[in-house]
Amino acid sequence: MSIFRDNIFEGRVALITGGGTGIGHGIAMALAGHGAQVAILSRSAEHLEPAAREIAEATGRACLPLVADVRIPEQVESAVARVVSELGRLDIVVNAAAGNFLCAAADLSYNGFGTVVDIDAKGTWNVSKAAYTAWLGSQGGQILNISATLHYGGTPAQLHVSAAKAAVDALTKNLAVEWGPQGIRVNAIAPGPIGDTEGTRRLLPGPIAGQVERAIPVRRLGRIDDIANLALFVLSEAASNIQGEIIVSDGGLSLTGGFGLLFEAMKKP
Ligand code: HXC
Ligand code: NAP
Repeated sequence: MSIFRDNIFEGRVALITGGGTGIGHGIAMALAGHGAQVAILSRSAEHLEPAAREIAEATGRACLPLVADVRIPEQVESAVARVVSELGRLDIVVNAAAGNFLCAAADLSYNGFGTVVDIDAKGTWNVSKAAYTAWLGSQGGQILNISATLHYGGTPAQLHVSAAKAAVDALTKNLAVEWGPQGIRVNAIAPGPIGDTEGTRRLLPGPIAGQVERAIPVRRLGRIDDIANLALFVLSEAASNIQGEIIVSDGGLSLTGGFGLLFEAMKKP
């Protein structure tokens, strides 16, 4: 049972990158469950097709799966064009696609760094620009970027992601200022570790998950629903005066330096 009215996004169309799995999937489900028509975009039909079926079955609304790589502008432009032609408009873009792995800076290759920056930062820009050109620039709407808190301090084994998400935060603030006057709200959510996601499976292997959980002031990992509910609020009219903000949902972890525990993950067995 949601605390939000079930039709708050009626008549709206949302595109969620990374919407086939994890946090992106949770946000897509929540938007569809509150009246939006949704399209989900990622590289793999194996992720997208079951997710689209699940969203349609749970909400009674068709969900459009779009296979594309956010690193390739032509694929992004074609996908955005399909959203506008098949769903009729494009009000909300959620940039949740990302890549990550644990790797100490000394071991990180040039291409390893570049790949993550390309997916997270350049991908966010590619999708935002394509959506701006196809719809948002003339009709207004919203962009919600999914960032992280890793770059608030220095996080071991996360140089590449920290650099990429710092760029996502910069994109959020700059686009909020430049595109705000055109009726476009741009914000970001910075989740802490969210249980049962690929992110925590990769970042918090073995006993480190429990150690990080005990370092979180609210003493629990985040849940996908925490982020989906926050996304509903930020994208709703209740947040119409919030612009260019990066809103943290991490149970207080970023106040504690708790990611220092990832030094453990860098130790060679
Ligand atoms: C070191 C690695 C590596 C690893 C890949 N690379 N995995 N280096 N350790 N574990 C290097 C490769 O050697 C290569 O560099 C370069 O990265 C590109 O690798 P590819 O496999 O060719 O890349 P690609 O197929 O494009 O896949 C991208 C990927 C992959 C990021 C590497 O893991 C992926 O598709 N991830 C998507 C799902 C995901 O990561 N979800 C988690 C998001 S969580 P060389 O030099 O050899 O060519 C998140 C934040 C979580 O973002 C925060 C939690 C608190
Ligand atoms: P996830 O399920 O792996 O989500 C990442 C998604 O991005 C996948 O659906 C993947 O689908 C897609 N993707 C990856 N590369 C892509 C590309 N080049 N083009 C298009 N799509 C691509 O991981 P998650 O943990 O839920 O993370 C979701 C978001 O939350 C990410 O932005 C992540 O940085 C952020 N975040 C997560 C946590 C956490 O604790 N989980 C914490 C902070 C921030 P395909 O493989 O099908 O392409």
